[in-house]
Amino acid sequence: MKVEQLSLFTKNPTKKFTLPEVCRLLSISVATGNNWIKLGKLKPDEFIQDKPMFTKTNIDTILEQMKSGQDDKLKSRRNKKHVSGISTYKGYIEDEKSFQIVEKIVDSIKVDEQLEHKTNIIIAEYALKLLYSSKKIHCPDSDCFLLAYLQGKYSLGIYQPLIQDLISPIGEILESLIEELSTILSYSVDYSRNQDFLGLLYISLTCIGERKATGSYYTPFSVVSSMIDDFGSKNIFSTNHTVIDPCCGTGNFLIYTSNYVKNVEQVFGQDTDITSVMITRINLALAFTIKDINVLYHNITVGDSLEGLPNNQYDIIIGNPPWGYAFTKDRIEELCKTYEVACPKGIESFSLFIENAIKHCSLQGYIGFVLPESMMNVRSHQQIRNFILNKAQIKKISYLGNVFSGVHCPSIVLLLQKSDLPFSTVGLEISTKDKIFTIQESRKISDQSFDFAITDEEYSLILQIEEQPHLTYLKKQADFALGIVTGDNKRFILSEKSEGAEIILRGSDLYKYRAIPSKDYIVYTPELFQQVAPTEFYRAEEKLLYRFICDRLVFAYDDQQSLSLNSGNILIPKIPGLHIKYILALLNSSIIQFYHTKKFASVKILRSHIEQIPIPIAEAKTQEKIIKKVDGLLTSNSKDEISSLYQEIDKDIFALFDIDDRSIDIIMNEVSNKNNFLF
Ligand SMILES: C[S@@+](CC[C@H](N)C(=O)[O-])C[C@H]1O[C@@H](n2cnc3c(N)ncnc32)[C@H](O)[C@@H]1O
Repeated sequence: MKVEQLSLFTKNPTKKFTLPEVCRLLSISVATGNNWIKLGKLKPDEFIQDKPMFTKTNIDTILEQMKSGQDDKLKSRRNKKHVSGISTYKGYIEDEKSFQIVEKIVDSIKVDEQLEHKTNIIIAEYALKLLYSSKKIHCPDSDCFLLAYLQGKYSLGIYQPLIQDLISPIGEILESLIEELSTILSYSVDYSRNQDFLGLLYISLTCIGERKATGSYYTPFSVVSSMIDDFGSKNIFSTNHTVIDPCCGTGNFLIYTSNYVKNVEQVFGQDTDITSVMITRINLALAFTIKDINVLYHNITVGDSLEGLPNNQYDIIIGNPPWGYAFTKDRIEELCKTYEVACPKGIESFSLFIENAIKHCSLQGYIGFVLPESMMNVRSHQQIRNFILNKAQIKKISYLGNVFSGVHCPSIVLLLQKSDLPFSTVGLEISTKDKIFTIQESRKISDQSFDFAITDEEYSLILQIEEQPHLTYLKKQADFALGIVTGDNKRFILSEKSEGAEIILRGSDLYKYRAIPSKDYIVYTPELFQQVAPTEFYRAEEKLLYRFICDRLVFAYDDQQSLSLNSGNILIPKIPGLHIKYILALLNSSIIQFYHTKKFASVKILRSHIEQIPIPIAEAKTQEKIIKKVDGLLTSNSKDEISSLYQEIDKDIFALFDIDDRSIDIIMNEVSNKNNFLF
């Protein structure tokens, strides 16, 4: 565990803190920190080479304000957590009773500079209780097993080093801390196979800022168990295969692997975090039959897996690598020398772990990782997609949705098999919330996007759309701009119209074709806003505004030079010969909705995706016919009329793509049971 946050305070009282350090202490992003400086909520004591610096007294004051709730911005629940910086990690284990014990511990522990030591003591005590409950050790009945052990009342046998590792660094304050923690150490727990109770304790007692900065969101039990059971059902774990989790945390994947791999000698793990490695060893001691404790020290190691793994090759590599790890500049430089998928502009930790795993996997061996769904289609992950296409076969993708407590991040389990054959989609299994199917056809796949979550029938339809003659694209033929980020909506957004104020639209005010403004106003003062596009985009004669986060494409027409917040972004098409209202109709149509959902599966409506939408180059006459209907939609107040005009436009656009009735059925089946955002 790194208690850098707290030790920063105690070790050197005159030290000045940089903005990233302060943000880490406050568990806010650096962008938010910068904004708070701009708004005067954070006041640096001085600037060194243009960089804001803060004294300890300054930070103490901010933390004090957080505690007292004196400042509005610090009153939110999220920020209240930063007073202690710790919270019980929901969804990690399934055993409710154990969860409640951890909750009681987290609620009652005093967070101070001894937190690291206290955490080790708590883990040691509960490790002893679990070893006892699983009948691995015998000991006298005692409230505090650790104290009884220290008093020499019983022996831990081969397990002694596992407990000593945790408590040895504490030194002479050990007994006084045990006394301080006596209530916290007094709960009784029963060993429950497969459940990572010690891991839950550890991650819950780790500062939230630390969890975020290291990308350490531990994987919920339900994900681990269904992933490993699935691999088990495919007979991936065969008798002599070796398994490693190269970022094992407290060993949750390895614990569950014990249901399929009987011999601990075959199981390996590595992590940079010393305490979590110690816990993994204890967890494996609980899950497996251990004859020689040295095996645990040999197989479960502290180390940077991106630098190397203890063995050169493994048959199965599993886990949940860190996502979005914040590497230092120097480290990025080093990594760029070793990893094909690393590039100085942006480096994504999970991509490095995939490349590393493929390199360390035996031919025909398997890699199973939990990853963000964005890996499948976001442009910045193109290099890792390319690497996979060249070195592996994708055997299965399970779309999990949002499975990490408190984080909005759809996730997947990706199962790869290392291969030296050309990439093929035949036999690739797909599991989504709605359906499970196996791709039977060979598809043309590029690293642009992995759009696998579509059946063979849907795939043929996408091809048909893409292969129409006379298509064009918005790429390089449109202006895109973001809505305004004020940095402080409370200050800038007014609920009544006042002098100089005008309507500002939110994403939620946008419907297909038109905006229905709620009554929010703003005085347009771009120089005071946190982020703002050039004024000419907001004030364009005609533009389209679209919802940025939505599972539908929702584009509204605007010729009122309206302003919008960044939940509604701007598109100004500039395709010669194609009218803005024709493009509006196309982007709002059912066929393009189908295309967007199937191709990009994204709830963020990204510029790069909009740029790839195929646009038929329609003749002037055809456009005129559609535009007339668009004008009807823009002015009508009759729901029935709006709905029938919308359907008529849909038909026109189906005709432009030459889509037959059977295909129209497939498309409408997919899109018609969802909110259409018509108003
Ligand atoms: C998302 S957590 C996964 C932990 C656990 N396997 C789970 O899924 O719950 C990522 C883990 O990667 C570890 N880690 C980060 N960078 C690492 C590196 N370069 N080498 C090894 N482990 C690393 C972190 O300490 C953390 O425990």
